[in-house]
Amino acid sequence: MARKKASDVAVPSGPQANHVAIIMDGNGRWATNRGWPRLVGHRRGAERVREIVQACPSLGVRWLTIYAFSTENWKRSTEEVIGLMSLFGRYIEKEADKLSAQGVRLRFIGGRARLEPRLQDLMAAIEVRTAPNTLLNLTVAINYGGRDELARAAVRMAGDVAAGRLALEDAGEAALAARLDTADMPDPDLVIRTSGEMRTSNFLPWQAAYAEYEFTPTLWPDFTRDNLAAILDRFAGRERRFGGAKA
Ligand code: IPE
Ligand code: IPE
Ligand code: MG
Repeated sequence: MARKKASDVAVPSGPQANHVAIIMDGNGRWATNRGWPRLVGHRRGAERVREIVQACPSLGVRWLTIYAFSTENWKRSTEEVIGLMSLFGRYIEKEADKLSAQGVRLRFIGGRARLEPRLQDLMAAIEVRTAPNTLLNLTVAINYGGRDELARAAVRMAGDVAAGRLALEDAGEAALAARLDTADMPDPDLVIRTSGEMRTSNFLPWQAAYAEYEFTPTLWPDFTRDNLAAILDRFAGRERRFGGAKA
């Protein structure tokens, strides 16, 4: 077999996605389709996270933000909510060593006050532990809602103005962005939603204002590294103009 030359390899010439955000949807349907409880789908979904996290650095992705639980998801049955919360705790405990060894920095966005104190402690501890890591920035959105985040940031900004820490004329876009949960993160370049739904469900409305979107019918527990690689290839073929005109 002839050896592959560099010129045989299709190098995408377009943009590279530095920050990918994923709405991991379809766990419930994946399980229901098989006659299994929804929580089985959530467990399988957590296993997918492992594979995707591992794949990101080799695909050139340095920031990965995943939507795990929305401010609207409290509407689900007590059984499902409790099951999800304990899954998050177990995921953090089980993955802590591996994520540290892989060079992954783990962060969380979303309102923490409503979460169990034990889960809050686990979250804070792993954030501190993985803070020196730089290979991949993994951010998990738990009890996250874009409107809730913006409302909390607006309250902070108003408080700073009232206390004289921020001049009213400086209370603009940059000041608000600096008070969001994502203050020290770049905006996502690409938002992916699995399961065929074509909506954003309150995910990163401010940060994704100029993101590219990809919707795939694949249910999250079936989403693989190859699916991600194919989406990134398509992304590289897009022309991002940010309101400018074609050169
Ligand atoms: C996404 O899967 C995970 C969470 C929202 C926690 P779903 O649980 O929404 O799965 P479907 O949409 O019901 O199939
Ligand atoms: C969005 O999925 C939230 C997460 C993936 C965590 P949902 O399943 O909650 O969204 P809707 O209800 O279909 O909009
Ligand atoms: Mg869903």
